[in-house]
Amino acid sequence: MEFSTYSRKKISLLIVPGPHDVGSAAAEIIKNTLKKKSRCVLGFATGSTTVPLYRELVGLYKRGVISFRDCICFTLDEYRHLPPIHRRSLRHFMEKNLFSRVDIPRENIHYLNGAADDPERECRAYGEEIRRAGGIDVQILGIGFNGHIGYNEPGSSRLSRTRMVMLSEETRARLRPLFGQTGPPRYALTMGVATILSAKRILLLAAGRDKSRVIDKALREKPAGDLPASFLQTYPGPITVILDTQAARLLPH
Ligand code: GLP
Repeated sequence: MEFSTYSRKKISLLIVPGPHDVGSAAAEIIKNTLKKKSRCVLGFATGSTTVPLYRELVGLYKRGVISFRDCICFTLDEYRHLPPIHRRSLRHFMEKNLFSRVDIPRENIHYLNGAADDPERECRAYGEEIRRAGGIDVQILGIGFNGHIGYNEPGSSRLSRTRMVMLSEETRARLRPLFGQTGPPRYALTMGVATILSAKRILLLAAGRDKSRVIDKALREKPAGDLPASFLQTYPGPITVILDTQAARLLPH
């Protein structure tokens, strides 16, 4: 199904019954991409929405349907000051849910080091690594309740590149239960909006009633920095939005 948005002619929209189906539908697209091009550069997002996708990819790998042997992978973002082994780091999330369970060669796994001494240099180097890999073939995205993509919080520019950002109060409030006494991180390193939009293909995933308002705004309102996900409407390449029926409930059918 194709869907008209405020500023972009068409977005491919796939509406599936539930969160698990969002993962299976995205896994199917990645499977087909890997079948066509085994030396594929994949950009991965974290968050609960992506868990069924990674479970599905691990299943496909274990059944011998796909291999990540020739893949190069980039993780979208990371909390500042968390070492990669920290159990709340986004690197740890990716290791636990995907990287340690499939055959991606270690040297092909790229991530932002939140504990880097010089975060600016770290971010610049990450941009370079993406360029050296030939750019991202498929970028997976979730969406935050306030419309962030990666950790491009409201106020982010369409032209932003990989950089250190301050997390919004809303985001920190949602993270608070996960971080206990130490409190949630104040900063993160994230691929920028322009970095994300330079991927060759984008898959945006969302599930649950709680995401319906932000999805509706992101796809139908005029693109603006106060809702960074709305910049996806300005993306020139193929974009597939996979939603469960709850997340899609406010979109016109
Ligand atoms: C975090 C990540 C985003 C992700 C978002 C959605 O904020 N930085 O990349 O899209 O969470 O998370 P969830 O799927 O848990 O709602």
